[in-house]
Amino acid sequence: MIAAIIAAAGSGERFGAPIPKALIHLGDKTLLGHAIAHLAPVVDQIVVTAPAGYEAQIQEICGDEITVVTGGATRSESVRRGLAAVDAATDYVLVHDAARSLASTDLARSVIAALKAGDVAVIPGMPEVDTVKVIDASGYVTSTPERSTLRKVQTPQGFSFSVLKAAHANGGDATDDAVLVAEAGHKVRIIAGEERAMKITTPSDLATAMTFIGDAHGFRTGVGTDAHAFGEGRELWLAGLLWPGETGVDGHSDGDVAAHAICDALFAATGTGDLGSNFGTSRPEYAGASGVQLLSETLKIVTAAGYSISNVSVQIIGNRPRIGSRRAEAISAISAALGGVPVSILATTTDGMGLTGEGKGIAAIASALVFN
Ligand code: CTP
Ligand code: MG
Repeated sequence: MIAAIIAAAGSGERFGAPIPKALIHLGDKTLLGHAIAHLAPVVDQIVVTAPAGYEAQIQEICGDEITVVTGGATRSESVRRGLAAVDAATDYVLVHDAARSLASTDLARSVIAALKAGDVAVIPGMPEVDTVKVIDASGYVTSTPERSTLRKVQTPQGFSFSVLKAAHANGGDATDDAVLVAEAGHKVRIIAGEERAMKITTPSDLATAMTFIGDAHGFRTGVGTDAHAFGEGRELWLAGLLWPGETGVDGHSDGDVAAHAICDALFAATGTGDLGSNFGTSRPEYAGASGVQLLSETLKIVTAAGYSISNVSVQIIGNRPRIGSRRAEAISAISAALGGVPVSILATTTDGMGLTGEGKGIAAIASALVFN
């Protein structure tokens, strides 16, 4: 029997999104969804480590056949928790990063083939193209390893189940599992890695990853605007947030002009209609929907059309409310609704001119960049 542990419990700090990295969308799936799809054909059991608090959401992505466990504070601790859920009859276990979402099924097959041929630890690696220096704590170079002997290692890393369990038994901590297995005295075999097993660490890695899922057509951009007049007795919802004490606006929905402008910019960029054709009066289920709900629905429509979002920006135009003090909170709310993409929010007044300058309402103008 062959099992796979997919480490997905990291927060994705370097990515900088308000949701865990494994839940970020790339094309038609989350990063975790891609990793599962690539490993499922070659393993008998999959265990996924989830960030604490996201277990239910991750179980939903995984379906009933996959075991979800809560990850630990470090990657090694997460892997140990995954190991505890692996079936006792397992011969080989693959440990994979959800962040290496596009590592192919063929790469997993090659790892398994090398295990079956007798190695107890097999890891994919790519030749290093840069000259690598070892440095000391003061930032001075202490040595230069011979480049041809260096490999940048990837996952899935494959191990004999008993060897990996024993290597983890003392609770060691390392950036990959092969270190622990080597420290336990085992030989680690390197096989050829692949470009597409790259680790997705920052937003720009997503665009690179997209080039591996076929059909890369490039970037498209779109603009959207929205405006609503103030209405007595309404709460103000703007940029995904409730603004207590501020006058709200009239409208069929919650009147969140910033969210609506972003939806339209995304529809414009992807040629998928507009706010009216997707959520208008002919779709009564969206009456009263919040801006954040409409953004999530828009993400689904854009994703179904085969696009990923690179970033969105929105400028809010009006005398009130003052956005500055809640900008970070608003960015976080909108980014989370859009699957963790980079968001910028700006605000301006119009020097007393026009409808927004006269204090009659609020407007917003947004732009979106998408790629497929
Ligand atoms: N991981 C994990 N448990 C942890 C930390 C990381 O399961 N405590 C997983 C991540 O989800 C990821 C893989 O290990 O799939 C490789 O880690 P990395 O790419 O560093 O992801 P993050 O730790 O989430 O990112 P960052 O270091 O930027 O916060
Ligand atoms: Mg990390």
